[in-house]
Amino acid sequence: MPKPVLFVTRKLPAPVEARAARDYDARLNADDTPRSPADILRLSAGADAILCCPAERLDADTIRALPASVKVIATFSVGYDHVDIGAARARGIVVCNTPDVLSVATAELAMLLILTAARRAGEGERMVRAGNWQGWAPTQLMGTQVSGRRLGIFGMGRIGREVARIARAFQMEVHYHDIARLPPELEQGATFHPNDETFLAVCEVLSLNAPGGDATRKWLNAGRIARLPKGAVIANAARGTLVDDAALIAALKSGQVAYAGLDVYDGEPNVNPGYRALENVVLLPHLGSATVETRAAMGHLALDGIDAVLAGRTPSNLVK
Ligand code: DGY
Repeated sequence: MPKPVLFVTRKLPAPVEARAARDYDARLNADDTPRSPADILRLSAGADAILCCPAERLDADTIRALPASVKVIATFSVGYDHVDIGAARARGIVVCNTPDVLSVATAELAMLLILTAARRAGEGERMVRAGNWQGWAPTQLMGTQVSGRRLGIFGMGRIGREVARIARAFQMEVHYHDIARLPPELEQGATFHPNDETFLAVCEVLSLNAPGGDATRKWLNAGRIARLPKGAVIANAARGTLVDDAALIAALKSGQVAYAGLDVYDGEPNVNPGYRALENVVLLPHLGSATVETRAAMGHLALDGIDAVLAGRTPSNLVK
């Protein structure tokens, strides 16, 4: 009995590729070449399953043009804004993602962004690396302490709740805004703001942890930034599409936002050049889930989903 064909768009951690090669007729990507929509269509000829990544857009046109053999698309990410779910459903293709396993790693990265931005660690690192450090000085690179500050989390899902857990260890006062209030056992004492105006007014530090997509596109715009306390710190480990870049760049220049830490960008891997010109923003290359443990767990969960669909079962990680 021939093995089902699995097309994997990018190079994956070795244990995940070993499992894929054991269980599937796997089309791997040893060179890790980025795949265009045309490549995806060509390389999925005869494939039963596609394991894709957030760097690829599987829009409606691409999904409609996929070969009839494709039964499941598993994305190596919790976010699925790069996959047109409606088009997949219309084609009878099941979509899976990788929730839960990356929540801790992504929340740690969000906290890293908050600390790096607030404590001006990016500027300090650039100064030392460039050989410009003249030694300790009483007024050098003074940032702002995060302990005792009010942290606002926009998007209190699994990752947002992990950010809250870590922030409590820094004695931050946690507030959140989302479409619905959490039950008390998940809220863990955080203050819910149904109204984004009252929410933004308390955010000395704002962490963006909501999903991408149309509902959150450019959520952080000039109007909302103006409602933040002056000198706020902003961290985005969610999706670049949540931010109106021109508005944030203007606020970083005016001081309305003192510091920002960004891991994600609208139109990745392109980064708005306005950010690169500013010292008070730290820029990371979408590292949220990038730990050895997490990336392996994501790969295994994606394969679990594919296994389930091809065996006629409902996967636990089905995108509904
Ligand atoms: C995700 O999973 O959606 C991240 O952005 C990629 O790690």
